[in-house]
Amino acid sequence: MAEKRSLWGSKIGFLLAAIGSAVGLGNIWRFSYMAYENGGGAFLIPYLVALLCAGIPLMILEYSLGHREKASPPLAFARINPLWEPLGWWMPVVAFFGINLFYAAVIGWCINYLGLSFNLGWGADTQSFFFGEFLQLSDSPFNLGGIRWPILAATAGAWVICWAICFREVSRGIEKASMIFMPLLVVLTLILVGWSMTLPGAWEAVKEFYLSADLSKIALNTAAGRKVWVAAFGQIFFTLSLGFGIMITYASYLPKKADIVGNALITCVLNCLYSIVAGFAVFGTIGFMAKAKGVPFEEAIASGPGLAFVVYPEAINQLPMLNQLFGALFFLVLIVAGISSMISLTEAFSCSICDKFSISRKKATSIICVIGMIGSIPFTCRGGLFILDIVDHFINNYALIIGGVLECILIGWLLKSQVMRRHVNESGGVRLWPLWDLCIRFITPAILLTMLVGALLGEFSEAYEGYPIKALLLFGGGILFATRLISFILSHVPWKPEKLKAEHHPEDENLLT
Ligand code: ALA
Repeated sequence: MAEKRSLWGSKIGFLLAAIGSAVGLGNIWRFSYMAYENGGGAFLIPYLVALLCAGIPLMILEYSLGHREKASPPLAFARINPLWEPLGWWMPVVAFFGINLFYAAVIGWCINYLGLSFNLGWGADTQSFFFGEFLQLSDSPFNLGGIRWPILAATAGAWVICWAICFREVSRGIEKASMIFMPLLVVLTLILVGWSMTLPGAWEAVKEFYLSADLSKIALNTAAGRKVWVAAFGQIFFTLSLGFGIMITYASYLPKKADIVGNALITCVLNCLYSIVAGFAVFGTIGFMAKAKGVPFEEAIASGPGLAFVVYPEAINQLPMLNQLFGALFFLVLIVAGISSMISLTEAFSCSICDKFSISRKKATSIICVIGMIGSIPFTCRGGLFILDIVDHFINNYALIIGGVLECILIGWLLKSQVMRRHVNESGGVRLWPLWDLCIRFITPAILLTMLVGALLGEFSEAYEGYPIKALLLFGGGILFATRLISFILSHVPWKPEKLKAEHHPEDENLLT
């Protein structure tokens, strides 16, 4: 017998789970190196533009689509237009295979660092420790260099926790976990930020490199400027969990009456505020490190995905007391933020599998988590960081943004945005203005397409981070191809006929001409 669709136990439960999905490693780990690499304060301008032009309209779109169809992305897409089902699959497949596999490995790093914090085991030179002793980074993406067992063990631990939460009914698993951990996350982050700002050199660095923007760094007529814009749009998709199918899935568990616009606005604003506030801690601490080492800010540390694992331990080293306790709490917070996003990355795929194959959530989650664990192994190897960096770049700059454009076409043009707007307004809460139609039909897709062209031009003008072209094609092109192939195959399994029957929406009839 088919399982009854899950429902959130409370409004706040849904909101915390959605914020829990959005606020994750992306807000601390990824945001910090993206901002550091892309002009510091100047990065915030395209970031906020991306939030307004793409983040908020698409969050409303994803919530409303999930709420209207009460279905996972492939089923929701297939009901609107069966030919679009492969694209509906692409989102959760990208979330799972393109992101979750490396995301679990980064949580694995955090778990290791939690252990290390009990004796500040990263030592005085946190940069050499991270790349040398900890990752034992190989010399090229082609040299996987064998598994780092402590990372593999911790990554397996992350998968077990994720499985244990997703395995349970939504209201008893994901919702409960989010209700406990999100408030904790906020309190600890505020303590960390407040304390970092007291370090010598922190405030000066924040003022000079984070709160003031050198506009030449985001000039659209330079390749470097375009790169910053593309990175900011990619970051908005990543941080808001857009284009992953997660928000469609989460909204499908909402009751009939729901404040879609209000919830979307709260999710977007709180998530980005969290990143911007956390950025004070990162920039402040880098400023402190630069001052202590007597080097320019831009040269204080190696940028890239290792940044947070270098900066925060350094900050923890400097605490006047209770360093171990604070270090442990901090890495626990990162783990919690990461796990609450990891469960959402898993849930989007598992819900899609349940919808298609009519199997139980328990069975789907168990199979998927085993596949996920095996798929994470390359990222736990000595060369894993390189592959992670390349996969992340291609997924964020292409797959998520293409997903956003396709959603706009599907809802804006095939379903018609006024149909969706009417649904939102009839569901209650904050009213959705016709401006949204304009965004979804014209403004958002046009900007996203411009970003895609910018990303492609960037690719041809300079190899990403100087990686060999073969590595970019193999891992970057490979992940895009593999996720499309998996989506194509899954979409060819036939649905049970009753599944495809959409809920009847008589109110649409006069609009759907
Ligand atoms: N939105 C999640 C994050 O920022 C994936 O980490």
